[in-house]
Amino acid sequence: MKRNALAAWATAAVYVASASAVFAQTPQGDAKAGAQKVQSCQGCHGIPGWRTAFPEVYHVPKIAGQHPQYLVNALKAYKSGDRQHPSMRAVAQSLSDKDMADLAAYYATETK
Ligand code: HEC
Repeated sequence: MKRNALAAWATAAVYVASASAVFAQTPQGDAKAGAQKVQSCQGCHGIPGWRTAFPEVYHVPKIAGQHPQYLVNALKAYKSGDRQHPSMRAVAQSLSDKDMADLAAYYATETK
């Protein structure tokens, strides 16, 4: 029993170590710089319960309070085409890695 707990702890430690290795490759996000860049996002994100009406009705996901690495990964996927949404692809095309990190840092600290 005790040995299992130790093994679980060791596995968790490996996950944490590899997660920080991923962070090390990404530019450091600056939430203050991100706050200057959100104008182009707030029209769609950040309105509670908001849905677009054109060209079709769809729900805009809440991005505030999500993990910064998740947000960066999502933005990179739109930019590369792994994620297909047309408006987000257009938005992500214009973002540098630093922009993405800053925006992710900003949104991760927001709760609304
Ligand atoms: C024209 C409206 C619009 C604008 C402007 C916009 N977004 Fe989005 N965003 C969406 C929609 C709609 C989705 C959901 C797309 C999908 O289904 O993949 C989305 C998805 C996302 C996701 C993935 C969320 C998740 O839960 O997986 C992130 C991250 C994101 N947007 C960040 C941004 C950032 C940062 C900006 C500004 C630089 C921005 N968006 C500007 C409409 C918009």
